[in-house]
Amino acid sequence: MEIFVTPSALQHHLATLHQQGKKIGFVPTMGALHEGHISLINSAKITTNIVVCSIFVNPTQFNDPKDLEKYPRPIEHDKALLTAANCDILFLPEVAVMYPNNDPHWAIDLGNLDKIWEGKHRPGHFQGVTQIVYKLFQLVNPDIAFFGQKDFQQIMVIQRMIKEKALKVKLNIVPTLRSVDGLALSSRNARLSATGLHKALTLSKALRHIQQHVQTKDIPTLLTEARAIIYSEEGLELEYLTICETTTLESTTKIHTEKDYVVLIAAWLEGVRLIDNMLLQ
Ligand code: PAF
Repeated sequence: MEIFVTPSALQHHLATLHQQGKKIGFVPTMGALHEGHISLINSAKITTNIVVCSIFVNPTQFNDPKDLEKYPRPIEHDKALLTAANCDILFLPEVAVMYPNNDPHWAIDLGNLDKIWEGKHRPGHFQGVTQIVYKLFQLVNPDIAFFGQKDFQQIMVIQRMIKEKALKVKLNIVPTLRSVDGLALSSRNARLSATGLHKALTLSKALRHIQQHVQTKDIPTLLTEARAIIYSEEGLELEYLTICETTTLESTTKIHTEKDYVVLIAAWLEGVRLIDNMLLQ
């Protein structure tokens, strides 16, 4: 795996590969990699010729400075995982490189997508995400970018940014990887105790309950039952639980057969904010 720390060296190298007609796959990450990230690398390996992964803990998407400070940075472990997964290129820039002093102000119209759910609870988060993903897309110029379904709203936001900026990159959404008992893999899980890890299972249990009964029960009943599952474990604090249409992410009170829906959830446990989602068929 080749490692680049400066945009110019990375761009120079990738320009040659583009000229050779190689299809470039891109997996942007903030590090603290786990099997979920590796499943993105694996998907990229299957569909593209060269896989670029970036590790950059992006300060502009953290609305809580303590969260940024606490974000794990196990870089040697990350490099070992990427090497084992046969990732071709790792881009590892410093903050000053991605955000130079003369960096222009970033504001993009994301409609309602950055004002609801994650956007409401993490003001400015999606402006920060789109800012860094746009910068990375400009540097890597990927044919296909790979994102995990776990951050469902993030994918919708990035899709909107691609449209707004008329970018050519295609998005590939990779299903969430879960532990055998259903917990969505996340870098934040490392901050939970053994008891916390067990309690966190109620998130996926609540989502699965909705998924299993959506054909037979109405939405208010499903949400009440799912909330009861969450609160059956002490210490969980629900931030939101909603059933929404997949593209607008507007909440619905009724399922229309011609539309697609997703259940979104966010909850706090042991000072850790957890999110998850499941598509409804
Ligand atoms: O999903 C993430 O890890 C981050 O939001 C991303 C897309 C790498 C941007 O910093």
